[in-house]
Amino acid sequence: MHSIKSAVIFLSVLLLISCELKKKSTFSDADIGIIPAPNLVTLSGSTSDNSELKIFIPDNLSSEYLRKLLSETQNAKLVEDEKSANVFIKIDKSAVAESYKIVVGKDKVTISTGGASGLQYAITSLSQMVTHNGYPLPIVIIEDSPGFGYRGMHLDVGRHFFDVSDIKKYLDYMAYYKYNNFHWHLTEDQGWRLEIKKYPKLQEIAAFRKETLIGHNNEPPLKYDGQRYGGFYTHEEVKEIVAYASSRNINVIPEIEMPGHSQAALAAYPEFGCEDKKYETATHWGVFEDVFCPNEVTFKFLEDVIDEVISLFPSKYIHIGGDECPKEAWKKSTYCQKLIKKEGLQDEHGLQSYFITRMEKYINAKGKQIIGWDEILEGGLAPNATVMSWRGIDGGLEAARQNHNVIMTPGSHCYFDNYQSESPDEPLAIGGFLNVEKVYHWNPVPEELEADKRKYIIGGQANLWTEYIKDYPGVEYMVYARGLAMSEALWSKNKNYKAFLGRYEKHNDFWKSNGANIAYHMYELNPKIIKSENKGVYVRFELPEGTEITHTSSAKSTEKKDTVQEIQINESGVHIFQAGKGNKSGKELRMEFDFHLATNAKIITDPAPSPKYSGNGIESIINGLKGINQRFKNDEWLGFDSTDAAITIDFGSKIDFNSIDCRFFKAEGSWIYLPSSVIVQISDDGKVFSKLVETQNISTSSKVAELTFGSLKAKARYIKLIVKNHGLISEGQPGAGKKPWLFVDEIIVK
Ligand code: ACM
Repeated sequence: MHSIKSAVIFLSVLLLISCELKKKSTFSDADIGIIPAPNLVTLSGSTSDNSELKIFIPDNLSSEYLRKLLSETQNAKLVEDEKSANVFIKIDKSAVAESYKIVVGKDKVTISTGGASGLQYAITSLSQMVTHNGYPLPIVIIEDSPGFGYRGMHLDVGRHFFDVSDIKKYLDYMAYYKYNNFHWHLTEDQGWRLEIKKYPKLQEIAAFRKETLIGHNNEPPLKYDGQRYGGFYTHEEVKEIVAYASSRNINVIPEIEMPGHSQAALAAYPEFGCEDKKYETATHWGVFEDVFCPNEVTFKFLEDVIDEVISLFPSKYIHIGGDECPKEAWKKSTYCQKLIKKEGLQDEHGLQSYFITRMEKYINAKGKQIIGWDEILEGGLAPNATVMSWRGIDGGLEAARQNHNVIMTPGSHCYFDNYQSESPDEPLAIGGFLNVEKVYHWNPVPEELEADKRKYIIGGQANLWTEYIKDYPGVEYMVYARGLAMSEALWSKNKNYKAFLGRYEKHNDFWKSNGANIAYHMYELNPKIIKSENKGVYVRFELPEGTEITHTSSAKSTEKKDTVQEIQINESGVHIFQAGKGNKSGKELRMEFDFHLATNAKIITDPAPSPKYSGNGIESIINGLKGINQRFKNDEWLGFDSTDAAITIDFGSKIDFNSIDCRFFKAEGSWIYLPSSVIVQISDDGKVFSKLVETQNISTSSKVAELTFGSLKAKARYIKLIVKNHGLISEGQPGAGKKPWLFVDEIIVK
């Protein structure tokens, strides 16, 4: 009886809607306010009479999360029986569990869905519509299902520890944006965070470090805070987290790192290392040579750990790391060398594969599957492993071509520990640059992957490594804005960045009003400098449509406000830009131009700069704008990887010049060294060059060395700078034995 009645109500609502849908739509996409954007939103153009939601959820579908979400949604409540409800739920067992359909009629809402997760997503969408769009609801049909089955967020709790209440906030955020896998990175060189009852020294020793690095790991001399730091999650706490996640349809994937990133475990149990020595929980960041030794005591330990892990985590996946395992300790170990021979392995990479495959066998025998970082491809992939591709997409492509499941998480688009703004005021981060827009446009399936292998890409994930993130507001800052974009990259089948920006504003305001430390860089200016046929350059911005840009120029003491996003700059001097709309504005951008003879000349470099550090094209180094002194990752600096650089400027005809200035970046911790020498040559035909001047012994006590060749009184059509790489990095330094990078900007000819 009951279901017939529901079906009648459902059909009559549908009928009502189909009449309403003929009307013209007046709601824009932004008005619906749902992130991630649903696949299909069909607006009728009319509003319903719904100014409250009274939902009856049968006991078997109710959850702590839904009760919490509805209690936080304006004019929404759970009712005890269906008679007093105006939101009706229909489970369609034949539908995909995560899919749902919402029909908002004149005075009723009907949700049909494949299962508990779909119901959660439907109610989350309704709740978002109310929160970000308000009552009365529009008459609308929303049909939705995820683009990818695996939608993950990762959190490293090894470098910094986050307590249970923080993890719950993270899970709440994930649920609100329909993520369904929490990758909990539980063990690291700097701390082992999971209670293992059979190995109490993990709690006494491995969970703590004696102190922590202050500042960036790449900026020696390293300084420490002298404060003991640590913590771990008890079994009871883990169970609490797993239950909390489960109530949100989030699976928790524990990661137990092996064979690398295991120094904290070795500090507690040195017998699991290859060397007979004392180990210490790491106090700074990086990749360490002290790793698990593939001996029988280690395997017994790891199997015992896995047994406890399996008793705590219902996840079908156990992540066993596998990344960044230096092989030095194994090379030195006679035990490892004998094992390589005995097992007929090629080398230490074969040994890594042996390690992972052996652990996989153990884990598979318990009915679970492993995930590993893409290094587990080296030396041969374990037979049933899922690969997490982080060093770009190549590992993911290779694994998919071997018919293995893949979770894409390339550093270029998924590493939320990277800077999201070029502003020098950003909180210290590991490096790199990844903003909301770049995340938004990411597609986890690489275009070059053959059609029949695409099914192996099961989804993607944002990773948050916490070397430089000490507390939960820091997590909010790095994750909450970019997480909005990532949720659409993983869920929405019809992405539209412009439409997203409207919703993004609303969600940003929502988190701000809830006290979250969400980053906001929407009106931040990231200009592209474009070559001009005249003196000077064009400055081009890419901002949401209708953004107003204020431009103040010291040269002309003028101020202009316009929505045009490309501005011609002819005059040297300070130019200040600021963008905004309504009551929102971004930070001021101050650019000091110093146009000179080489600005807009032709330039070639041999070799080309690394694609990773190629600025706004090679003209960046003659465009009249100096690279910032704070960071080399910036659109001005050009980076050349382990090579000399020959930079040739062609003025088109002979010119008189008197000075050449050039600037080089130094960050030896990041393998960026000043050149050993710079030779300036000139030519009139571009073929025969003669030496004009040379300098050696270039040094600086800051991050940028500025060189000046003055009083040249020269005349030429071509100037060539031969910038000599420093040469091999010495022993004991980061990158020892390799040729370093060269970073150049700006070459000023006057
Ligand atoms: C990683 O970022 N080392 C997986």
